[in-house]
Amino acid sequence: MTKKIPHRLYLTEDQMPTQWYNLRADMSEKPDPMLNPATGKPVIPEDLYPVFCEKLAHQELDDTTRYIDIPKEILEMYKNYRPSPLCRAYNLERALETPAKIYYKFEGNNTSGSHKLNSAIAQAYYAKEQGLTGLTTETGAGQWGTALAESCCYFGIPLTVYMVKASYEQKPFRKSIMETFGATVIASPSNTTEAGRKILATNPNTSGSLGCAISEAVEKAVTTEGYKYVLGSVLNQVLLHQSIVGLESEKAMEMLGEYPDVVIGCAGGGSNLGGLIAPFMRDKITGKANPRLIAVEPASCPSLTRGKYMYDYCDTGKITPMAKMYTLGCTFAPSPIHAGGLRYHGMAPILSKLYHEGYMEAVSVEQTKVFEAATFFAKYESILPAPESAHAIRTAIDEALKCKETGEEKTILFGLTGTGFFDMTAYSSFHEGTMIDHIPTDEELQKGFDKLPKIPGIQE
Ligand SMILES: Cc1ncc(COP(=O)(O)O)c(C=O)c1O
Repeated sequence: MTKKIPHRLYLTEDQMPTQWYNLRADMSEKPDPMLNPATGKPVIPEDLYPVFCEKLAHQELDDTTRYIDIPKEILEMYKNYRPSPLCRAYNLERALETPAKIYYKFEGNNTSGSHKLNSAIAQAYYAKEQGLTGLTTETGAGQWGTALAESCCYFGIPLTVYMVKASYEQKPFRKSIMETFGATVIASPSNTTEAGRKILATNPNTSGSLGCAISEAVEKAVTTEGYKYVLGSVLNQVLLHQSIVGLESEKAMEMLGEYPDVVIGCAGGGSNLGGLIAPFMRDKITGKANPRLIAVEPASCPSLTRGKYMYDYCDTGKITPMAKMYTLGCTFAPSPIHAGGLRYHGMAPILSKLYHEGYMEAVSVEQTKVFEAATFFAKYESILPAPESAHAIRTAIDEALKCKETGEEKTILFGLTGTGFFDMTAYSSFHEGTMIDHIPTDEELQKGFDKLPKIPGIQE
């Protein structure tokens, strides 16, 4: 008799992983080192101390420790909303008339509404442990800012959030939630920092970008005694914390006797994707299995599919270390699409390296197609997805429809990173038919590439 797969599988608290998995340990070729912008030399932990907490600086540069214990204080807060469910999309499968089996890992069941809490808790904890008096960060869509506001509130640390102006204006209630948790929220670019003032002087009507908000948050941290900066994506440490998503998925699938043929995730800076695919990528690298791993990005901000694999700054203000990654150039300002969390110019160095070596695929999708998929999914699965997450849904549906054509019964796993309750302006514009797609021209992209940094002996 075949086993009945439940609609939702929740691991028990005891089954929740107690260690994060560091994918870099299994990569035979490690991501290229971050460079200190002042010297052009690979950074050492001490170079990162002015900006990051010391423990996090070490996690950032640790290419060898395979498993890292999750401190018990972090596990305690994880248990407020984890383990998250692995869902079988029976209704969606039926609606698509596909022989494919579709699973999704749902990370939206917490107040921040997304996976971002997994790293926010870790970063706030390490800040508290180091005795810091405050933190700063940026937020795009608002999920990361909310997650960090919740975490800082839990550990009793003041927080200043620079929120990309486009999102700040589109989602005023996001600001209210962050304030409920005690955070100070500032629209970026702002007049509160040198970086913000510079950007406003050249482009007073800018809707902002993640890179610009990062510059402001970093500047505020390094100029305020006892403060550090924390970032919700891109960095190696963030992918490490997000590995809990992949580890739980792997365990749940194992209990069901399943293994994915295809794993799909939306990709902004790469943190949910890097976390979700971590154990499956390990299997691929070590030759144990050969799943397809797919990054889905917006056609308006196509860092993997149209970017260059080069050293670039992680922020528009050029104060962060330089990372080798797929990038559109840190000066690239994407059009203000509704998936605010996917408007980042670069991609996590770990994923960039793996993509460059052919271990991962990438596709880009237009936002009207994304909202078509989001609406279809909502109708059948009764969850209102975040626009970011709906990028993964789009590609999961496309893969399932391919299976319908070929008759293949593939197992598809995708990351449903969050809910879209604050994105109703976007949903309305889709329903009213006013949503537009913007695909940058080659000439527009070239402007960003022309400003990539020149590093003697490395990148001329
Ligand atoms: C719901 C949701 N999914 C995905 C992302 C993309 O970020 P990342 O690529 O780091 O997972 C964001 C970023 O704000 C988000 O809010």
